[in-house]
Order: sequence, then C-alpha cells, then structure tokens
Amino acid sequence: MTFKKCKWQAFLPSCFKVDETTLKSNNEQKKQSSSPRLSWSDWSSNSTISEDLSITLAGSNIHVFTHQELKMITHNFSSSNFLGEGGFGPVYKGFVDDKLRPGLNARPVAVKVLDLDGTQGHREWLTEVILLGELRHSNLVKLIGYCCEEDHRHLVYEYMPRGSLENQLFRRFSISLSWSIRMNIALGAAKGLASLHEAEKQVIFRDFKASNILLDSDYTAKLSDFGLAKDGPEGDQTHVTTRVMGTHGYAAPEYIMTGHLTAASDVFSYGVVLLELLTGRTSVDKNRPHREQNLVEWARPQLKDPRKLRRIMDPRLDGMYSEIGAQKAAELAYHCLSHTAKCRPSMRDVESTKNENGQCHLKNKLHQDNKIHGISSPNSPRIYSDSALEQRFIRGLKSSPAHQRLQRA
Ligand SMILES: Nc1ncnc2c1ncn2[C@@H]1O[C@H](COP(=O)(O)OP(=O)(O)OP(=O)(O)O)[C@@H](O)[C@H]1O
Ligand SMILES: [Mg+2]
Repeated sequence: MTFKKCKWQAFLPSCFKVDETTLKSNNEQKKQSSSPRLSWSDWSSNSTISEDLSITLAGSNIHVFTHQELKMITHNFSSSNFLGEGGFGPVYKGFVDDKLRPGLNARPVAVKVLDLDGTQGHREWLTEVILLGELRHSNLVKLIGYCCEEDHRHLVYEYMPRGSLENQLFRRFSISLSWSIRMNIALGAAKGLASLHEAEKQVIFRDFKASNILLDSDYTAKLSDFGLAKDGPEGDQTHVTTRVMGTHGYAAPEYIMTGHLTAASDVFSYGVVLLELLTGRTSVDKNRPHREQNLVEWARPQLKDPRKLRRIMDPRLDGMYSEIGAQKAAELAYHCLSHTAKCRPSMRDVESTKNENGQCHLKNKLHQDNKIHGISSPNSPRIYSDSALEQRFIRGLKSSPAHQRLQRA
C-alpha cells in the first residue's frame, strides 16, 4: 500500500513554526530539571557522540556496528533484502549471530539506513538510539544496535516478521485480519503508548500511525520509529511547544493549530488507528468521495449509533465480529477523538478498557486464529517490569558524561 506521508511542516504556514527563542528557553528549562533524561542539545558535539552513547547505553545490551558489518549482513544492502522505505531511509533484512559480536543471539534483524537526502536526519537517529536504548517494553520494538561512522547513521532492530499494521490492513492482496487479531493489536499498541506516557520521564510518541505499529509472528504489536518522539511537559508545564510534525490524518487538531504537544495528542492518533482497525479504511483516502476522504470526519459521527456503526465496519470482516466488542471499541475511539484534548482518556484508561473487553477471550481466539492462518507458535517476548525499567534508566544514565554535565548545569 502506498500511503503517502506528509510532514505537516511541509504545508503549514510558517506562523505555526516555533521561533528559536522558544525552543532555546525550553532547552534551558530542561537543563535545570533534576530528571536524568538526556535532551538532544546535550549531544551537540559530534566528536563525543559515539563515546557518550556507548557509555550511556552501557548495560543496555545495545551493540555498536560498523558500516562494513551491516553491509555484510544485508548482502551489500541488496534489493532481495529490501523490506521497505519510509522518511528515514530504506530498511533491509539481515542476520546477526555471535560470530559478528560475542553474546549476540543468532537472529534476523531489520537494518534502517539513514538516507542523507531524506526528510529525517541525525537528530531523529539520535533520538531513536537514546530513547530505545533506555526504554524497554514488550510492546516497543527492540533496538539491537546502531552504526555511527562518518556520515553513516544506521539502526538495527529486531526483525518483525509480519511487517507493519499498515501493510497488513491495507495491502490489496493481504489476508484480512480477523476481529480478535485487530483488537489484540489495539491492546498491544495501547500498552506500548501507555508505557511511554508513564515512563519516569514522560515520552510523547508524536507519530503514532498504522505504519509505525510493527507485528511479530503472533501479531504482537510493537511501536517503532521514535525519531519524532519528545519529552513530555515537566513541572508546571501543561504542554511542550514544538514544531508541528507528524502525519496528515493522524495528528490531533489542537496540536496542528498551536504546536502545543501533550500525551493527549498521541491519544487522538490512537483513536484514528482504532478507526482504521474498525473500518479497514486509511486515515486519508483521496480516492473516495469528498466527504469520506478524511476518516475521522466521516466516521466519528457514526460511532455512537449501533446501526450506523454496522454500516461503517470493515466489509472484509464479513460480519465476523462481536457486536458488543465493536460498540465498545467505537465508543473508545469516539472519546479518543474528542476535539477537546482534556476530554480524551489517558492511555492507561484505554488499556484497561481494552483489557476489560475480554483479553482472555482474545488470547483464546488468537490461538484459534493462528491455527487458521497457519502461524507457528510465538516466541515469548522479553518483558521488563516498570520498576526494572526504572532501574535500567537510572543505571544506564548515571554514568554518562552527558548526565554528569546535566547534573553540574
Ligand atoms: N523491525 C522491522 N522488521 C520488519 N520490517 C520492518 C522493521 N522496521 C521497518 N520495517 C519495514 O520497513 C518499511 C519502512 O519502515 P519505516 O518505519 O522506515 O517507514 P514507514 O513507517 O513506512 O514510514 P515513516 O517514515 O512515515 O515512518 C515498512 O514497510 C516496515 O514494514
Ligand atoms: Mg515507520
């Protein structure tokens, strides 16, 4: 499915761009904070990046690869290993084992190669390495390593056999995802987002959408692409002011209008993905009649009425879904898509609602669905508890020179 990504900044008037003074004052406020999270400005000196990163990420099991090594494991970035391409650059499948690095389990990986002419750059690469180096959760894609050599900026992730939700849901010849798999994906994605919003220092994902939800062999959803993620507001701040970035059709209206970013902006985007799962339609579809092109505008007024809801449900489900489950999911989507950010639920509330919606039922059903789709039994993902995550955060960061600079500031 070729769904064109548009960066908001590309077509928004420049009046929405935040001036440098605002950005600087935000950075200064961050430096005065007692929190250990590193901000991008702490990494501005190119010469110390590799050194600082490897110290900061010590203990997090993130490997530093050379460009040559990644070239080798992807067969010279060959087209037969090509998985796809987004704003960051092309992605290739590769294979690592302990011959490459002692301690590396033999496993397939996905290597994302920064395209220097693309829409993203060093800043996004660095944000991704820092955040995924710190944050571990079974619903966040795992970063195995990175490469930072001359102009080369690569990211090495665990390989997700089923690719993105976007491909699974919208690709023309893909098998339709069953209702229970869809709801399990919605639950996993909610857990992933909740883990970011509830991290010791909140993270706002900022680019939540179907193409950034990757699927494991058992359809476990994992969030990927942290390049646009931002630290959440601190102390008395109600929001973070930032340039408007994200993807057309998913970004929250107040964020587009003001550049004010909160966790509620992610909740809105979550509501859009929930609508996509219910209706099987993309967030924006220029090939549809004018009033149906924007999914939220078209579908939201129909979510509260069970009869109308039935009419907008994905025809590929062929009626094979729980009516009550669909009504609950629709109601949840309705609230997530509220125009008033404060009226949206938190991601934890969303997760609980989806859990109540019958996780046990989902698990059983998922097992049956897997049999139908002929899927081999899943590898159980490594789960980090919240407190283990916190300790990891603190252990990894305390020893870093950048953290010490922060402490001195
Ligand atoms: N860890 C991974 N395992 C398997 N496939 C992956 C992995 N990461 C990315 N891909 C595939 O690579 C393709 C490009 O992904 P990428 O995240 O770079 O771009 P995108 O999400 O399509 O666009 P955007 O730049 O808007 O995020 C996608 O089709 C995705 O399925
Ligand atoms: Mg992506």
